[in-house]
Amino acid sequence: MVAELRVQRTTRKTTKKTIALVPTMGALHEGHASLIRLARRRADRVIVSIFVNPAQFAPNEDFRLYPRTFAADLAALAALNVDLVWAPAVETMYPGDFATKIVPEGPAQAGLEDAFRPHFFAGVATVVAKLLIQCAPDIAVFGEKDYQQLKVIARLARDLDLKSRIVGAPIVRERDGLARSSRNVYLSPRERAAAPALCRVLKECAAKIAAGQPINDVLAEGREAIADAGFALDYLEARHADTLAPAASTMDGPIRLLVAARIGNTRLIDNVGV
Ligand code: PAF
Repeated sequence: MVAELRVQRTTRKTTKKTIALVPTMGALHEGHASLIRLARRRADRVIVSIFVNPAQFAPNEDFRLYPRTFAADLAALAALNVDLVWAPAVETMYPGDFATKIVPEGPAQAGLEDAFRPHFFAGVATVVAKLLIQCAPDIAVFGEKDYQQLKVIARLARDLDLKSRIVGAPIVRERDGLARSSRNVYLSPRERAAAPALCRVLKECAAKIAAGQPINDVLAEGREAIADAGFALDYLEARHADTLAPAASTMDGPIRLLVAARIGNTRLIDNVGV
């Protein structure tokens, strides 16, 4: 219950300890562990939330099938010395008469994830605002793998004057470069073997852009290479690393390359800085 969470949270606060929140949807892997370790370095106490948020899944998406590994997650969190696990029920987060939605603009309308998952950022913004209000952490840690999400949440926290500082954590990769994701478990052996192409192409594109090749040419080659590796591409884009505005040249500011592509039934996203 939220009231119990508040008591727990207040006890920690009255001891003048700083609190970090790491919001997750469970199915924890090494990527989450690295967020938690970063949170532990930056704060005295760490809260991890586990909530598979129905509001960020469209009816045709994988909410029902999304991996749920609660017992294993709790064991992993105990091993990481997490101080509090907040795992609210759906009815706690969204009671039957729930009637409020946060619909973010700005980075949430960059034409990246929002173009393919139009419902997504309203679901994320609403649940993250609730988690930040419920847990009232000093900092909240989010992975850079969901780069647009990180920017949307940072803007949300700023725009709503939330007191929590939003901290981005670097992507954790498998040895072959594939970004860690709870959805990687969906990949068949053949798809898993092809999947590192996404990261490889991103890094090749970043190197070419850094070497001065025209961004549009580099992206065109990158899109072809991703299709050749067996992916159906949603987007491969070069954007300003902060605003997510389209970047046509390195003069347009620090650049982030972002990709989303489907292999079989699994949709993967990744990004790198130039
Ligand atoms: O990145 C995620 O796991 C989710 O989108 C988040 C931030 C926990 C909100 O449900």
